[in-house]
Amino acid sequence: VRVGILGAGQLAQMLTEAGTRLGMSHVLLAPEHDACAASCGVFVHGDYDDPHALSRFSEHADVATFEFENVPTHAVEWLEDRIPVRPSAEVLRIAQDRLREKETFRRLGIPVPRFEAINTLLELQHHAEAVGLPAVLKTRTLGYDGKGQAIVRDTRAESLQRAWRAIGGTPAILEELVPFDRELSVIGTQSPDGEQVFYSLNENVHREGILRLTMARATDPQREIAEEYARRLLVEFGYVGTLALELFEVEGGLLANEMAPRVHNSGHWTIEGAETSQFENHMRAVCGLPLGGTLQHRAAAMVNLIGTLPAVHDVLAIPDAHLHVYGKAERPGRKVGHITLIDHANNSVEFNTRVARALELAGEDAAAYALTLRESQRGA
Ligand SMILES: Nc1ncnc2c1ncn2[C@@H]1O[C@H](COP(=O)(O)OP(=O)(O)OP(=O)(O)O)[C@@H](O)[C@H]1O
Ligand SMILES: [Mg+2]
Repeated sequence: VRVGILGAGQLAQMLTEAGTRLGMSHVLLAPEHDACAASCGVFVHGDYDDPHALSRFSEHADVATFEFENVPTHAVEWLEDRIPVRPSAEVLRIAQDRLREKETFRRLGIPVPRFEAINTLLELQHHAEAVGLPAVLKTRTLGYDGKGQAIVRDTRAESLQRAWRAIGGTPAILEELVPFDRELSVIGTQSPDGEQVFYSLNENVHREGILRLTMARATDPQREIAEEYARRLLVEFGYVGTLALELFEVEGGLLANEMAPRVHNSGHWTIEGAETSQFENHMRAVCGLPLGGTLQHRAAAMVNLIGTLPAVHDVLAIPDAHLHVYGKAERPGRKVGHITLIDHANNSVEFNTRVARALELAGEDAAAYALTLRESQRGA
């Protein structure tokens, strides 16, 4: 089977690694000259909505998927007229728009933070009290890694103006800033005939809007309810592929932040830590194959390498560290690799020491993650 992937970053790289093992071949389309997955298959260089590029891409593919959710939906619809696209343009359109996304969650009975649609500075002034401060103003579309967001702390005209200008004065939503106890994500995969699998819940720590650490444990008190919410989304859209749902845990309950209609950074640990990775299950679903088991035997941690890579030697000096280097040029704020650690010895003290070392190599202050590491100890 020839699988087409829109986007050629690290997610495409890990998808093709899984696909290659299953005998699939790949075609990738991306606008970057130096896309890191360009050598992972036939590479079509061009904008996502370039008709020539799209038609070359579709000629090389039996089925298509995407690794990036800001692909123009009209390009995906054009493809859908020619080959199956999984997941669909319909779910992509909703995931691209924070307002439609939150309205969908609400309609499906998935709790969300208080929010209001904001189209003008006047509306921002009008709704700030109702949403409650502090709040986050987010562009409806095109945000990622915390970009396109501004915090609103008070209702002074200049504060509101500053936030409105910071996001470029485009249609937005204003959300209460949730004082969460933990950030979680649930990842599941659905096949075309409705078979579903879910991975252990991920506990995620962000800094400056960018994911730094994921801890995944086989048991979590919130797992069942998180899975139920993800299940509703999979069913609603007749979803095919891997989906991630990002959640805030607050006062023992869950609020949905956003969904990603693709494989997700918080699921990278599944390559070494689960029976079948999120990437392989995505490719299986896209090709209509039976899904693989998602069982996790031991706690897993994933540390993102952001901006610069530490010395390979230093990473590999951590016992049983799994290093993934994406082959991207180093640039501030850019994800250039990750480290996965598995608690093989079922010894959380030793495991946490290794995770702390990985965090240090990633340039993080490991002490700031003590709470998450301790939590993992309790859960193990
Ligand atoms: N309403 C909120 N309350 C508290 N924290 C928030 C809120 N919205 C966002 N954040 C924080 O900012 C991070 C990034 O926000 P969000 O997931 O909405 O944006 P994004 O740019 O799509 O990020 P990504 O692509 O990395 O998932 C969240 O993971 C969370 O840590
Ligand atoms: Mg997010």
